[in-house]
Amino acid sequence: MERQPGPGRRPGAARWARDGKVVRMSQETDRPLPTALAEAAATAGHAPSVHNTQPWRWRVLPDALELRVARDRQLAATDPEGRLLAISCGTALHHARVALTAEGWRAAVARMPDAGDPELVARLTSLTHVGADPEAMRLVQCMQVRHTDRRPVSDEPVPTDALSEITKAVTAEGVQLQLLDRDQVLELAAAASHAAAIESEDPQLREELTYWTSRAGGAGLPPDVLPESAPETTVPGRDFGRPGTLPVGPGHDRAADYALLYGDEDEPVDWLRAGEALSAGWLTATRLGVSVVPLSGVVEVPGTRQALRGLLAGMGHPYLVLRLGIADPAHAGPPRTPRLAVEQVVDTSAVRGS
Ligand SMILES: Cc1cc2nc3c(=O)[nH]c(=O)nc-3n(C[C@H](O)[C@H](O)[C@H](O)COP(=O)(O)O)c2cc1C
Repeated sequence: MERQPGPGRRPGAARWARDGKVVRMSQETDRPLPTALAEAAATAGHAPSVHNTQPWRWRVLPDALELRVARDRQLAATDPEGRLLAISCGTALHHARVALTAEGWRAAVARMPDAGDPELVARLTSLTHVGADPEAMRLVQCMQVRHTDRRPVSDEPVPTDALSEITKAVTAEGVQLQLLDRDQVLELAAAASHAAAIESEDPQLREELTYWTSRAGGAGLPPDVLPESAPETTVPGRDFGRPGTLPVGPGHDRAADYALLYGDEDEPVDWLRAGEALSAGWLTATRLGVSVVPLSGVVEVPGTRQALRGLLAGMGHPYLVLRLGIADPAHAGPPRTPRLAVEQVVDTSAVRGS
């Protein structure tokens, strides 16, 4: 999008774009709204997603932003119901919301707004400029450094205050986080091993994993973010079916905390909210120096997902398991996992020329 030259820009004025459309300008910013929306969608590209599939597509409209599912990047074998797909879209939605807030924009968010159009997962509308938010700006900085570090954690425990703050960030998104006690961690370990065994015997799942761990082009998982061998841990991490090149070191997960992200309902809109909560908790964790690794294998297999419900005493539906810990400070962690080019995930054709 082209920016109008300085002298012609008057904050608060509507102006005509070359194609005759009125472009809204805010009272407090000289940036056209479509530019802010396109930038927020691009920033949301930092969001985490299952196998780094980035299963979302943004459409920038003159005064709204739409988030759509990219079905071609759904894990058809691993995630036929679209649970992890919706959680992944939720992390992107939260990233975009925070990016807009950081730039001073307040938006109304409609989740799954059109029953006749299930691919449309969210629409952000009614944008008004209310002034930049320093807390959100800090979280945008965290988006740029947040990453998944699959090495064992260090022996330093996660401070209790940090756990409380992460929990608060999750619950503010309407989702719950339950920290597991020692016995529950052992039950989780048994369920995670069982899920891994089931998944490793399924040829379609193996094929899907091979595809996402061997493709180039900005999606999927390159070898340098995957452990070179399975770390010695109580709760097994995902077996990616091939060794990576990330040195794991001698650590263990003794000092790690495990938590269950869960909620009252188990519908696509709840998974979307779970993703928003995951993003909120993970960005807060990043700000506090806490490493997060989602473990979804145990949720992907219906039987072990049911076992997790037991950990919640049947009081909720598990969405994701999280490992929380302090990363090994002595060694560099994994490099950044690549992302798709912005043009592949953000469609600005409706505002081009604005
Ligand atoms: C819904 C969801 C499920 C995930 N499941 C796993 C998992 O089971 N094991 C794992 O190591 N990472 C898991 N991840 C982390 C992703 O692989 C990671 O976010 C993605 O590769 C992008 O890398 P980054 O987080 O370093 O930016 C999951 C992430 C999401 C959002």
